[in-house]
Amino acid sequence: MDADAAAALIPAGANVGMSGFTGAGHAKAVPSALARRIRAAHAAGTPFRVGVWTGASTAHELDGALAEVDGIDLRMPYQSDPVTRAHINDGSMEYVDVHLSHVAQMVREGFFGTLDVAVIEVSSITEDGRLVMSSSVGNNVSWIENADALMLEVNHWQSEEWHGLHDLYLHSTLPPHRRPLLITHAGDRIGEGSMPCPLDKVIAVVETHAPDANPAPHAPDAASEQIAGHLLELYRHEVRIGRLPAALLPLQSGVGNVTNAVLRGMLDGGWRGLTAYTEVIQESMLELLDAGVLDVASASAMTLGPEAAARFNDEVGHYRGRIVLRPQAISNHPEIVRRLGVLATNGMIEADIYGNVNSTHLMGSRMMNGIGGSGDFARNAFLSCFVSASTAKGGTISTIVPMVSHVDHTEHDVHVIITEQGIADLRGLPPRRRARLVIDNCAHPDFRAELHDYVDRATHGGAYGLQTPHLLGEALSWHQRFVETGTMRR
Ligand code: COA
Repeated sequence: MDADAAAALIPAGANVGMSGFTGAGHAKAVPSALARRIRAAHAAGTPFRVGVWTGASTAHELDGALAEVDGIDLRMPYQSDPVTRAHINDGSMEYVDVHLSHVAQMVREGFFGTLDVAVIEVSSITEDGRLVMSSSVGNNVSWIENADALMLEVNHWQSEEWHGLHDLYLHSTLPPHRRPLLITHAGDRIGEGSMPCPLDKVIAVVETHAPDANPAPHAPDAASEQIAGHLLELYRHEVRIGRLPAALLPLQSGVGNVTNAVLRGMLDGGWRGLTAYTEVIQESMLELLDAGVLDVASASAMTLGPEAAARFNDEVGHYRGRIVLRPQAISNHPEIVRRLGVLATNGMIEADIYGNVNSTHLMGSRMMNGIGGSGDFARNAFLSCFVSASTAKGGTISTIVPMVSHVDHTEHDVHVIITEQGIADLRGLPPRRRARLVIDNCAHPDFRAELHDYVDRATHGGAYGLQTPHLLGEALSWHQRFVETGTMRR
């Protein structure tokens, strides 16, 4: 049927699980048709909103289209669309920010209510009726298992060569029935290449012919290149002293411009035989595969700009055996991340002098994107690095602050902080030594004296205790100053 006929089957108030992990493999026709229907209902004075669950962020034609018509009442688990973000921050859309590896389990446990409909993009349906996913897997297995009704978008733009690149683990049992997930190398497979289709649930099949839709990555700026240089020097140092093997350990690289630049930096420097166990394969990671730096990459989605996505789509089969796409519950699974000894690198909004990291909230209150998979990896990584420029918004904001305004990653899960200024390797250090290192090595010079002054005054009489000295009345004053004056500078 066409997308409008399919969208007509989704009732107001439904929870809809959509495929999509970044602008890859997302449902492309039914969400826009649903948005048109919602717009018409609102114009007629009829309330109509749905809950939208996905793998992670999607593309404008899903998140943006539904948010523009005020069609989403609750969104989870991750987003990066500007219109969606605006609705979340003006309070008109509820948002639950969940570790990406936890979503399938929490849905199964029923915390978000019933999953009424799933809308899943597939690249093809095999002759024996099995579903072949496309450029992302995300939560598709969970949505198909848990939804009351299923809509399939068969996207003919997607290559017919996708079969064999997915590893679909189909046994989503809850404890105490779980078994070990025997992945001991990033390229190992524990599941099936396609998924049986529960025919009794299928209420619509819609044919589409539409490309994936991720923005092209920015060219790395000077700060990102400096950060990349510091991180690569850290890896070389760890190899030299024997803490890491020459081919490193599997790389995880979070979303964002800085992490993309870090991977680009690996193209030079003679690295060989590397592997990746990560969440998204960005363009830079594909370049590493093409250059023979990376042998194999495991993820849940391909996040490629338009040109790279089109080229990749023509050559999908060429990457069989070197790319494995898994459900996000497996690509981000703590058991596997810990076993493989993943080297995690994630972006951050801000870090504090003691090493706590905020990845999500601006000035403590305003949602940026969400925690995504950063917590899945950071908590369990062999080496967990957080990266950012030392200032934001034209130098008005210091990303190194006395106390973070929201905590996503505690000091216990943050091994190394890197800005363009340098590296603070916090492993093994007690809090007051951490503070000195973070300020001297990572803070922008314009903010260093004030940060040292804060720690000095807290240490010499102002704090309630000296393990982690804080001046409670002042700890968030930098953020307050920004909210009131538009700058953290005095
Ligand atoms: N205060 C206010 N704004 C800040 C800020 C701060 N301390 N630090 C960064 N920003 C703003 C930047 O100015 C920029 O704004 P713009 O979009 O209006 O230009 C935006 O945040 C992105 O910052 P940028 O420096 O370009 O970093 P990035 O692209 O590397 O993204 C995060 C940084 C934290 C937003 C991103 O890494 C993220 O969403 N992380 C959480 C999810 C995650 O880590 N997933 C990893 C598993 S894949």
